[in-house]
Amino acid sequence: MSRRFLVTGGAGFVGSHLVDALHRRGDAVVVFDDLRTGHAASVPDGVTLIEGSLADAALVNRVLANGPWDAVFHFAALSQVGESMREPLRYLIENAGNGMLLIDACIRHGVRRFVLSSTAALFATVTDAPIPEDATIDPASAYGDSKWMIERALHWASQVHGMRYARLRYFNAAGADPTGRLGEDHRPESHLIPLVIDTALGRRGALDVFGADYPTPDGTAVRDYVHVCDLAEAHLLALEAMDQGDVTWNLGNGAGHSVLQVIEAVERVSGLPVPYRMADRRAGDAAVLVAASDRAQAAGWRPRFAELDDIVRTAFQWRKAHPSGYGN
Ligand SMILES: NC(=O)c1ccc[n+]([C@@H]2O[C@H](COP(=O)([O-])OP(=O)(O)OC[C@H]3O[C@@H](n4cnc5c(N)ncnc54)[C@H](O)[C@@H]3O)[C@@H](O)[C@H]2O)c1
Repeated sequence: MSRRFLVTGGAGFVGSHLVDALHRRGDAVVVFDDLRTGHAASVPDGVTLIEGSLADAALVNRVLANGPWDAVFHFAALSQVGESMREPLRYLIENAGNGMLLIDACIRHGVRRFVLSSTAALFATVTDAPIPEDATIDPASAYGDSKWMIERALHWASQVHGMRYARLRYFNAAGADPTGRLGEDHRPESHLIPLVIDTALGRRGALDVFGADYPTPDGTAVRDYVHVCDLAEAHLLALEAMDQGDVTWNLGNGAGHSVLQVIEAVERVSGLPVPYRMADRRAGDAAVLVAASDRAQAAGWRPRFAELDDIVRTAFQWRKAHPSGYGN
């Protein structure tokens, strides 16, 4: 049976891949996005785009009043760790503040299910072992803390108002829709894989590798890269799992790859050299972030793109074919 969903931030990188998956299976989707980092061109025909900001409480209220909604997926956020360390209050207000206003409006309009894009950045990084959902929470950045505050707000919305939540903590989202329609287009780009690809394609100068003295095998930081289509699939599974209760899942492949290993993967996939130089560490960056995604796997999540080269290949194909991204 067709269902109806509101997706905040659905014109952004990860959100657009979920919107596509919902739309393809016949669900009705409304995207709410102010396009500050998203792209109208990513929204498929047949999906309504409401251009507006979450800070506009009256508009959010009007949109939610036009229900019923089977669930709200909340992707819209500022999401740069470094920026959040320069403007912490902006992150707390825009992410946590607006997120809480959205949850409150959902409660008032009878929305029963809320799915949050959360992050690995809320964990205390005291170990290089895979991080389970119940690991210690101690965000090292205002960005991570802003997501933790929304997670807590959802706890209370569930406890007191009976709203079901899914808190999905992505590790490093990467890759692109293998059909070539969707991809990653952040401006400026801050994510490693597209930056390495652009370096290989000669679209930028030598890549800065931030930190060569981490306690990792090659000294560079290690991350768990997870394909956006696998993230979209996990959202669909979480929606079903919410029938049984609230959901908190870590989403990653459980395999760590260093910056130098990502560079090597791009060189393998593209056949092109990647010039790079070593630079100092950045504030707020952890040495190792790798997910233990046992809960999602127990619910049937089987990433299709578990290998780094397969993730890089889809990203490379999209970026090579779209030198201007979505072109807007
Ligand atoms: N990309 C990752 O690796 C990653 C990792 C962990 C968590 N996340 C989280 O996943 C979500 C999506 O990330 P992404 O990489 O797709 O980011 P993105 O910047 O591509 O997408 C965010 C979207 O939200 C919109 N938006 C932002 N603030 C808004 C506001 N106030 N009102 C309306 N629209 C607004 C933007 O225009 C954009 O379309 C974010 O919440 C992010 O914190 C991402």
